[in-house]
Amino acid sequence: MGTSVAQVYDYGAHVWSWSLDGDAVLWTSAKSVFETGKALRGGVPICWPWFGPGRTGDLTPAHGFARISEWTLAGRVDRANAEVLTYVLDPEAAPAALPGQDWRVTYEVSVGDVLELALTVENLGATLFSYEVALHTYLTVGDVRTVTIAGLEGASYLDKVTGRQEVQAGDVTIVAETDRVYDRCSEVVVTDSVLGRRLRVATEGAANTVVWNPWVAKSAAMPDFGDDEWPGMLCIEAGNVMDHAVSLEPGRSETLRYRLAVEAS
Ligand code: BG6
Repeated sequence: MGTSVAQVYDYGAHVWSWSLDGDAVLWTSAKSVFETGKALRGGVPICWPWFGPGRTGDLTPAHGFARISEWTLAGRVDRANAEVLTYVLDPEAAPAALPGQDWRVTYEVSVGDVLELALTVENLGATLFSYEVALHTYLTVGDVRTVTIAGLEGASYLDKVTGRQEVQAGDVTIVAETDRVYDRCSEVVVTDSVLGRRLRVATEGAANTVVWNPWVAKSAAMPDFGDDEWPGMLCIEAGNVMDHAVSLEPGRSETLRYRLAVEAS
């Protein structure tokens, strides 16, 4: 087993960094702002209970309140060569956010040779509870213009840059601002010839993969994103968004899992 180091903040239950043998696997911006009410730029923000502006297009804060809420660290144990942190978010943390709904979100972060994330939402109320969810993972890449992303070929996607619905032909490559919601969440492999490695993302309980790189103009417009940082990052997000929002019956729960592994290539 190599040296696996992660930093996790209680605020947002935000996995902020993860490195293996000193090499960053998750990406974090040097311009990120550590401030109440502001999500960190990098690592793994939790998008919940809506994604972006939500299905109605007018919800704030963007990507929901989970990433800007104080979570409770409920457990910290060693399990099979990994350290596992368990965080809990409940309505007391965000009382005004979902009136009339009773729920609990539990987040397990397992840090070992692989990073395993499991976000479980429980409907503790008496009525149907519907939400969007995504683990908005920022990956470190050598140069985003040279990576290939396999696993999405043939999948239909919404191109949020053009507003058009498209079908993916072959591997995904990043040649401009990219913001796509794919209707598929199979295993995705990012091959990075500059860093000589493959990042393997495996998920469960997700219907969508989101691929995001802001490129030049959009990153320059974001105060918490360095103007020249965009070539070094790529978001491969997994979740259930838009038409694939989750509807939970009373008493039911759903878990979204994201597993990130690194292989030499
Ligand atoms: C992605 C969205 O998931 O997150 C993009 O698809 C968005 O549209 C990006 O720009 C970053 O969002 P935020 O709120 O963290 O700046």
